[in-house]
Amino acid sequence: MSKIKTKELHIEKVATSRIHDVDFNDLVFGKTFTDHMFECDYKDGAWQNPTIKPYGPMMMSPAAKVFHYGQAVFEGMKAYKDDTDNVFLFRPDQNIERINKSSKRMAIPEFPEDVFLDALHTLVAMDKDWIQKGEGNSLYLRPFAIATEVGVSASPSNEYKFMILMAPVQAYYKGAVKVLIAEKFSRSAAGGVGAAKAAGNYGAQFYPTSLAQEKGFQQIIWTDSNEHKYLEEAGTMNVFFRINDTLITAPVSDRILDGVTRKSILEMAKHNGIAIEIRKLSVDELIAAKKQGSLKEIFGAGTAAVVSFISHFGYKDIVYELPEIQNSYAVSLKKQLMDLQYNKTKDPFGWRVEVK
Ligand code: COI
Repeated sequence: MSKIKTKELHIEKVATSRIHDVDFNDLVFGKTFTDHMFECDYKDGAWQNPTIKPYGPMMMSPAAKVFHYGQAVFEGMKAYKDDTDNVFLFRPDQNIERINKSSKRMAIPEFPEDVFLDALHTLVAMDKDWIQKGEGNSLYLRPFAIATEVGVSASPSNEYKFMILMAPVQAYYKGAVKVLIAEKFSRSAAGGVGAAKAAGNYGAQFYPTSLAQEKGFQQIIWTDSNEHKYLEEAGTMNVFFRINDTLITAPVSDRILDGVTRKSILEMAKHNGIAIEIRKLSVDELIAAKKQGSLKEIFGAGTAAVVSFISHFGYKDIVYELPEIQNSYAVSLKKQLMDLQYNKTKDPFGWRVEVK
């Protein structure tokens, strides 16, 4: 773990909150940010000066390495409010663990877990009035680390910023989505950075996704980069398939993100007695199951979208429609997960963490 020079959190509050300028019923995902943000710099071999300060633009050299080599990682997490104004995080330990794994892969110094959790709790508590109650409403938390050293030599930066921004959000997708199975483009390759939440993984999806959108799909189901034979992820989410009554998802690997929602869905499904298979699923098997009528559901799982229902998938110019079913796993698992996150049920897993 990297060193931290000064652990004490310095806090500068805004003079006047911007909260009254915000229309919470008309939010565009990730466009509106709360009053405060967290910032901590890495220099001279240690993280230093953890600070909470007013959210706002920052000055950086145009030669900072992040702009040239994309040395950047991020996380997505959320804070939720229950009916009596208590605020909760969901498995925050998983996010700091994962950003540190991503950082390691991107040659960024890891961030101390205790400093992260202390800053996160303080920041969320300070801006808790920005969290709206009600299903689908939450505060999207965006921790990230960027290379700030000036210089365009292609080598790891000696200076970084670790920051956390917070955005009040509503549901990510309004309805079910249509996905196109990738035949040519890849999200990640063996030995690459697919398992890391590296900024460039997401930027690299924009072009193929825009081509899919021109054909009427919202997202792509990524397939393996070798043969485009196995189904890996859906857009920015992990993906689940229900064939007969078995829930199938790809194993995590160096190409597939170890999603917090993915692992929570798997643990809940197991707890509910649903048969699970963590294995490779081929496009051929998917289409055969669809033709036989045994393919019941496909859904994506991720922090931003929670559980995203997939209504159609396209492959080789054919569009397949999924049936509407009664006892949908996606519907029941989404409800179970959200009830846990919004403190509507007991938490047998110990995932909910209250912010005081
Ligand atoms: C998340 O679910 O947090 C994501 O990573 C999606 C994000 C790229 C909007």
